[in-house]
Amino acid sequence: MRLRDVHKYVSWFIILVAIYGTASGINSYNSGRGQWPHLWIVSPVMFLVPLIVMEISHQIYMRKHIQFQQPLTTITEEEFYAITRRGKRHLCILDDLVLDATDYAPYHPGGKFIIERCRGTDISKFFYGGYNLEPLTNGENYNHTNYARECCDTMIIGRMNRATDIFKV
Ligand code: HEM
Repeated sequence: MRLRDVHKYVSWFIILVAIYGTASGINSYNSGRGQWPHLWIVSPVMFLVPLIVMEISHQIYMRKHIQFQQPLTTITEEEFYAITRRGKRHLCILDDLVLDATDYAPYHPGGKFIIERCRGTDISKFFYGGYNLEPLTNGENYNHTNYARECCDTMIIGRMNRATDIFKV
């Protein structure tokens, strides 16, 4: 079991214990008073209903296909490498789109180093989980979610205009 799963199940356990504690506390306070015998239900319902609604909307969102915006600006390979070689802007390529991830790098959940390391490269194979930066140490591939796709959408600065068309015979 991965650390992420342990974290998830332990959190669920703590939440359920907390709900049980609150409900049974209300119940024992109320018992014998003869008023509102079902008051204990209010606390679990108030907690679980929003949680279930949020979980369902999250699951629906994760199954959607988030389309990237289609930029009108095109960037040539020379322009791209001229900027990235200077080392100040972390531009990278995703599909045929050019992203400027400079401002996002410190907030990347997978680490700032990864974004800096990928400056001036095509990150598609990493982003879609086909490959990772630590293959020799059995690092895990990571397929990004729609939340990440939305982040990318805000970073698109143009479409890559490649000099050669490899499909042309
Ligand atoms: C600039 C484009 C990128 C964006 C916007 C981005 C965004 C994100 C986001 C939002 C997450 C959190 C989980 C999720 O929603 O999927 C994440 C996790 C992660 N990213 Fe990226 N990412 C980018 C590029 C990359 C690249 C190029 C790599 C690898 C070379 C990478 C490796 C990872 C890993 C390993 C995690 C998992 C972290 C963890 O849960 O411990 N990311 N990324």
